[in-house]
Amino acid sequence: MNRHIRKVAVLGSGVMGSRIACHFANIGCEVLLLDIVPRELTPEETAKGLTLESKVVRNKIVNGALAFALKSNPSPIYRKSFASRITTGNFDDDLAQIASCDWVIEVVVERLDIKQQLFEKVEKYRTPGTIISSNTSGIPIHLMIEGRSEDFQIISWEHISSIRHVTYNY
Ligand SMILES: NC(=O)c1ccc[n+]([C@@H]2O[C@H](COP(=O)([O-])OP(=O)(O)OC[C@H]3O[C@@H](n4cnc5c(N)ncnc54)[C@H](O)[C@@H]3O)[C@@H](O)[C@H]2O)c1
Repeated sequence: MNRHIRKVAVLGSGVMGSRIACHFANIGCEVLLLDIVPRELTPEETAKGLTLESKVVRNKIVNGALAFALKSNPSPIYRKSFASRITTGNFDDDLAQIASCDWVIEVVVERLDIKQQLFEKVEKYRTPGTIISSNTSGIPIHLMIEGRSEDFQIISWEHISSIRHVTYNY
């Protein structure tokens, strides 16, 4: 099956996720990069009058991770301007935006329970037929997608580890 990939969602902005996001931006894709919301404020944030509802706090983890990746040497981004193709957000406020993505890539911490919980939410918001994949190092796919609908399982099985026929926005 041929696919045209214009926009990807990268769920998790750690070592792998932030760099995967950059590589998709490098090849011309629009990227939605999401991560968790922090549970506590730092003393500095409290002193500034920020709360756990402040956007700057809610997107702190994803923005910090992306900034760190962009500054790393060698940089994962081929041109600084390509970074503008990456939009950041968090799982609590922005997951619904995956509905407009052609490919959703899960890159969160290597824990079955966390990946299962995230795939449950992904199923709620994805557009049926969207490619869903995982960057897992070794968790069996059938466990990660346990409890998901048949349609979600089929698309995941087909694409989770063997995407071959895709074209990008060069
Ligand atoms: N690092 C590697 O060399 C490597 C290689 C191949 C595959 N992987 C796989 O890629 C995935 C990510 O690895 P990484 O090295 O980027 O890890 P990382 O620790 O750098 O990043 C993990 C991400 O998960 C997020 N996270 C933590 N708790 C969470 C929760 N409760 N809910 C949702 N997200 C949460 C973190 O905020 C972070 O963005 C893992 O499945 C790992 O096995 C890693």
